[in-house]
Amino acid sequence: MSRTIIVSNRLPTKVQRTGQGLTFQPSEGGLATGLGSIYRADDNVWVGWPGMFVDDPNEQQQVTERLQADSMAPVFLTESEIHDYYEGFSNGTLWPTFHYFSEYALYEQAHWEAYVAANKKFCRAVLELAGPDDTIWVHDYQLLLLPEMIRRERPKATIGFFLHIPFPSYELVRVLPWGAKLLEGMLGADLIGFHTFGYQRHFISAVSHMLGYPNQSGQIDTPSRPVLIDAFPMGIDYQHYAETANSEAVAQHVLAYREALREGRIILSIDRLDYTKGIAQRLRAFEGLLERYPEWRGQVSLLMVVVPSRDQVAQYQSLKEEIDELVGRLNAQYSTISWTPIHYFYRSFPFEELVALYRLADIALVTPVRDGMNLVAKEYIACRNDERGVLILSERAGAAQELSDALLINPTDTNHLVDALNEALLMPEEEQATRMSHLRALVKQYDVFAWTKLFMDRLAYSKIKQHIYT
Ligand code: UDP
Ligand code: G6P
Repeated sequence: MSRTIIVSNRLPTKVQRTGQGLTFQPSEGGLATGLGSIYRADDNVWVGWPGMFVDDPNEQQQVTERLQADSMAPVFLTESEIHDYYEGFSNGTLWPTFHYFSEYALYEQAHWEAYVAANKKFCRAVLELAGPDDTIWVHDYQLLLLPEMIRRERPKATIGFFLHIPFPSYELVRVLPWGAKLLEGMLGADLIGFHTFGYQRHFISAVSHMLGYPNQSGQIDTPSRPVLIDAFPMGIDYQHYAETANSEAVAQHVLAYREALREGRIILSIDRLDYTKGIAQRLRAFEGLLERYPEWRGQVSLLMVVVPSRDQVAQYQSLKEEIDELVGRLNAQYSTISWTPIHYFYRSFPFEELVALYRLADIALVTPVRDGMNLVAKEYIACRNDERGVLILSERAGAAQELSDALLINPTDTNHLVDALNEALLMPEEEQATRMSHLRALVKQYDVFAWTKLFMDRLAYSKIKQHIYT
């Protein structure tokens, strides 16, 4: 039977070293949580890094066995690979460039070489596992060269590629000294998927400018094969969120949180700590609300979950300091004996507690300055079985293309954001219900299973098309 081999830098399970030895926890981030519901089906396997440096062969063996039992195959990265490939090229060059933060981007030849070598390492791991009939599905910016590397070894393989972050305008891609090589790497796939038509368009335009390959109706004709390019907005496991939101365990958490927070209204903010997420801008907007609409003081609190992320990369460290300072200053300035304006958590939450937060929040404030999709927005919607609550969403998140019943804002326009917060706090329940029921229908219909099916059907079609073409 043919299987799907999912390949991404990060596995959905991360290994951590504690006093009790190695522990295994769910990974954070949209790729890992989103695909977490689909990889176990039909004998599929997920190949990737377990998130920690493990060099002891006994520990590697222990990790491998534990992950194998759960359909995963680990790729162990060395310390220097983590430094140069993961923190360096992936998160110090590609991540800022693709999110329009070129001023943060590093251009280090050594990082590039480590990126090539790490992609080769993933390639070897895939080739060891994949049979000739298996479908190989590569994910995200850490592995842009992998489709072409696999193709060289297995010319007939079925290879899909999906990018989970924005694909930026050609003007940004051309700044990268290795831009053309990255595009060639992606074009090793039969089908390349993006979250939005905008990203798809940018990719086709970059290929046309930098490689000169012709394209028509979402097909690029490389010298050796046609490659299909399409948009597939990623969904979530709606049913899982909706059912968990109705569970007794979640009801207990909601009750406990409600008691602690008393009658106050709750604005919820949940992200990995990342400069693309607009966390500092969001805090300034909350301050603006308390200044411009002082009637909300004592009435509304911001509950802010910031999940630690990439903390060895310089920009992430300075952002952490900025957020700590802002929260400290605002709480010191506005707190009263009976009211804390910001409840700030710098850690991740277990799934049911996260769902309880979604159930509790009057407003979800999702204001990234750039975001490929943003699954937090969809998770909030899926948890609102009561059809209450307001989603304030940045127009620069991929999710905004679908979720037009949210209050859409420009995240850098603080005044607009302050007004949207006030509007959300005043929104009548009937309007909340109308908007929420539209949003829920959409998130329910285009869930992660529908997304996977659309991608896989299209991938199968790409092979039929190539057959006709050659
Ligand atoms: N998340 C989590 N634990 C937490 C907070 C968030 O697992 O304590 C998850 C969240 O449920 C969501 C993901 O992290 O599925 C974030 O995905 P998103 O697409 O919003 O942003 P990304 O982190 O991928 O940029
Ligand atoms: C985003 C990226 C993923 C990545 C995740 C968490 O969702 O698209 O590829 O896994 O962030 O980041 P990390 O660096 O911890 O894997």
